[in-house]
Amino acid sequence: MSLHERRLTDHELGGNTLWYKDAVIYQLHIKSFLDADGDGIGDLSGLTRKLDYISSLGINTIWLMPFYPSPRRDDGYDISNYKDVSPEYGSVEDFQTFVNAAHARKIRVVIELVVNHTSDEHPWFQRARRARAGSPERDYYVWSDTDDKFAETRIIFVDTEKSNWSWDPVAKSYYWHRFYSHQPDLNYRNPEVVEELLSIMNFWLDKDVDGFRLDAIPHLVEREHTDSENLPETHALLKHIRARLEERHPDVILLAEANLWQEEAREYFGDGDECHMAFHFPLMPRMFMALAKQNARPIKTILRQTNSIPDECQWAIFLRNHDELTLEMVSEAERNFLWETYAADKRARLNLGIRRRLSPLMDQDRRRIELLHMLLFSLPGSPVLYYGDEIGMGDNTDLGDRDGVRTPMQWSDDRNAGFSNAAPHKLALPVIDDPQFSYAAINVAAQDNDPHSLLNWIRQMLALRRRHRAFARGAMRFAKTDDDRVIAYLRTCGEDVILCAANLSSVSLAAKISLPKLADYVPIELAGGTTFPVIGRDSYPLTFQPYAYFWLKLTKAG
Ligand code: BGC
Repeated sequence: MSLHERRLTDHELGGNTLWYKDAVIYQLHIKSFLDADGDGIGDLSGLTRKLDYISSLGINTIWLMPFYPSPRRDDGYDISNYKDVSPEYGSVEDFQTFVNAAHARKIRVVIELVVNHTSDEHPWFQRARRARAGSPERDYYVWSDTDDKFAETRIIFVDTEKSNWSWDPVAKSYYWHRFYSHQPDLNYRNPEVVEELLSIMNFWLDKDVDGFRLDAIPHLVEREHTDSENLPETHALLKHIRARLEERHPDVILLAEANLWQEEAREYFGDGDECHMAFHFPLMPRMFMALAKQNARPIKTILRQTNSIPDECQWAIFLRNHDELTLEMVSEAERNFLWETYAADKRARLNLGIRRRLSPLMDQDRRRIELLHMLLFSLPGSPVLYYGDEIGMGDNTDLGDRDGVRTPMQWSDDRNAGFSNAAPHKLALPVIDDPQFSYAAINVAAQDNDPHSLLNWIRQMLALRRRHRAFARGAMRFAKTDDDRVIAYLRTCGEDVILCAANLSSVSLAAKISLPKLADYVPIELAGGTTFPVIGRDSYPLTFQPYAYFWLKLTKAG
């Protein structure tokens, strides 16, 4: 058995049950990563071939977007069979080979699990609509004779859906759906549905996956006269699932996708007995806001309002992902401001968000791209990177829905960006070839060879981050500055004390950082190892170029 085929024990994987606290997560779509069999669609064999690349970034966890059989009307978030792999991507055996090869490189695998709804093509739905009303089969989904039940529940895909109910002519009844009408919601009040979910999870755990991103979990259970989000029933269900999974798989992690304010998102950690991780949705737009306003306050305010979480839990923090950059967790005035700033071209707007990648959002300004990554890598939480952003890939707003940010990975300046040998019209999505972001210029091969590329800069920053436990595990405290354009905070873990400071503005400036208990400490700049003047009794002066930042290790003098 070759190394890649051998299953590693949790211990060999560097195993400790809190591994996710040290996770640096890379989110990718198999479809768009590498096409090994030349049919125009990325596949598991292609992805497996690129594991060394992922490892070279300093990534230790992959989050795989849905890879299950699906009519793909929501790009795979509409699953028609949970216990298989879509044939275009490979087989369950190919999946196992991929997981083993990832584990051999000490990379964990977290898979997407769409728990709230299925595709309307799923056999459960096809059976339910034909089954007798009130029968156990019908009861897999949520039905009603009228479309006015749960009236207080908001619509999420406001650009496409007018109601959360759709009429099914076969069942002669309305069915409930929080997302597209082809995605009927499962009925978790039915214990059989809960058992089905557990059986699906165990199926993939038996293939050695390390965790699940639980899609859209605030909506699992609905109740009349509520907004049907975050109900106690939903939390009870998640606790039950966690407890049941842990009986056989104590190291599995659950990552909550709950697009909510931080107090509500925090509830998904329970008392350390629900999800291990949750995305910090309100922080994300505030990083963009801080940059646009050239002011640290949006980030400071939201993090000060974020209560501590159970010791064994961890936030997942991110800049971009496969969806629109959601502006649900900001006020209307802030949303309009962010739309005006980052999506003046209305084609870039979708639902309550912006369907653009990071580099175009930053007008390809390397300084601002670095600054946002510096925050991502040093604020509390496990950073999640979206494939392609490490080379500054562009997007394509001419494509529908969110496809414009899901285009093929740009590996080289070869045909189809080195993604596939297929004829260009056969590709899952067209490669980006507009003059500004063309794969001819923006690709992995070119950046690999350039020591100053964004790709190599990200590798270096992640290598630094790995060397200091304070980033992943440390406490965090803001340091006062005399200038709101500067953000400064300390990450501390035992003797490891790191001062992170950045100028969020477009001008050069000098600022004073208040470090009252750190007199006599000597700052050493992490990337270059340069020693800075010792910290005195007064506030510490730092000068910054526009958008410049420092990571300074503070060591006691003498
Ligand atoms: C996913 C989306 C998807 C939706 C419905 C979301 O939260 O991130 O990509 O369209 O769930 O499944």
